[in-house]
Amino acid sequence: MAILKIARMGHPVLLARAVEVADPKAPEIARLIENMAETLEDAGGVGLAAPQVHEGLRLFIYKVPGGRADAGEPEVPLRAVINPVITPVGTKIAMGWEGCLSIPGLRAAVPRYETVRLAGVDGTGAAIDEEISGFHARVVQHEADHLDGIMYPMRMADFRYFGFNEELAKFEFPLPEIRLKEPVDE
Ligand code: NI
Repeated sequence: MAILKIARMGHPVLLARAVEVADPKAPEIARLIENMAETLEDAGGVGLAAPQVHEGLRLFIYKVPGGRADAGEPEVPLRAVINPVITPVGTKIAMGWEGCLSIPGLRAAVPRYETVRLAGVDGTGAAIDEEISGFHARVVQHEADHLDGIMYPMRMADFRYFGFNEELAKFEFPLPEIRLKEPVDE
């Protein structure tokens, strides 16, 4: 096991589209997942995508810790998702705070789909196909974005809700509602 170096915003690996994992059961993929898990544990985050550790592969790891402030979130133990496909379910958008290990010290309010379908393969090669909501869905959308070279500032709707963790912790303010345009058929 090894702690890997985390790429920070500005490194081109974070802007590239990652490629599909050809064999999710390959030993080198298992080794990468192990090392990413150790790196995430060391860094203290909830999710980490392979491009963040300079590996341009479509895989990420994440967990949803128990006892989150926005109650009602079921705990999800650390898991890997390989070759994920994320599909929005419905049109409801929620605002929530996000940070990123590649953008240390900062966080922002980011609009995300409230509910998505997550498909892919887990670290054992078993198929994943489930509907997820809330913080769980937010984490997965954030991590999946990394595989397409997208970081959360690119998803922001209002840059006033962007700041340093230390400062934001001193103030509590309500997040803006995001108003969706009426859906249109086209
Ligand atoms: Ni991130």
